[in-house]
Amino acid sequence: MTRARLLHIDASPRAERSRSRAVADTFLEAMAERGDAPHVERLDVWTAKLPNLGGGMIEGRYNLIAGEPVPPQLAAAWADVRQHVDYFLSFDAFLITTPMWNFGLPYSLKHFIDVVTQPGMAFSNDREGNVTGRAAGKKAMVIAASAMPIVPGGELEHFDFQLRYLESWLGFIGVTDIHTLRVAPTYGPDKTVSRAMDLANKRARAMAVNF
Ligand SMILES: Cc1cc2nc3c(=O)[nH]c(=O)nc-3n(C[C@H](O)[C@H](O)[C@H](O)COP(=O)(O)O)c2cc1C
Repeated sequence: MTRARLLHIDASPRAERSRSRAVADTFLEAMAERGDAPHVERLDVWTAKLPNLGGGMIEGRYNLIAGEPVPPQLAAAWADVRQHVDYFLSFDAFLITTPMWNFGLPYSLKHFIDVVTQPGMAFSNDREGNVTGRAAGKKAMVIAASAMPIVPGGELEHFDFQLRYLESWLGFIGVTDIHTLRVAPTYGPDKTVSRAMDLANKRARAMAVNF
């Protein structure tokens, strides 16, 4: 049997100080203890060379949406985009770790999502607007840190444009097997933060068993 491949998409620029990365390490260590642990590659969205979608470049997307090839002058730029999508879709599973920034995602992670979510690549569409995700059958684990206790069912739940966004995006590209873990609050009295970290690490270890 071939070994499954997992892409760790890391969106915290804080390296070893990152709370989401610390919980991801726990998750990956617990997975490594399994006999069938996947091969893991890490993508740091802050250092990855992601294509610039500005200028006239994005017009190619409108060609692709209409089912047309991109114009010759944009072909090289779109071949680069395709390489990023192909690399992303070559994995069986995704581990996304991210801080909350201003209630949503850090812009580097949004940049990555904007690069890989392309028509005819990560999803198919028809002229009636029906969409089929091409990442169907893959699974995802999302570890999301926030300073405030923005948790499901909590008083601040309406501020969540981070986990809810990622769940919506993964669903759009066809991923249905989505697991989420909130690391919060990461700001406050030491005791409160260490309790949140202990709980998140404990949950990460448990979730790694069946992921
Ligand atoms: C630019 C910026 C914006 C932030 N915005 C929010 C926010 O809207 N809500 C929140 O709860 N925490 C916010 N935070 C705090 C981070 O989400 C928190 O420190 C988290 O633990 C960072 O995760 P990391 O340690 O994995 O990088 C923000 C931090 C930064 C640097």
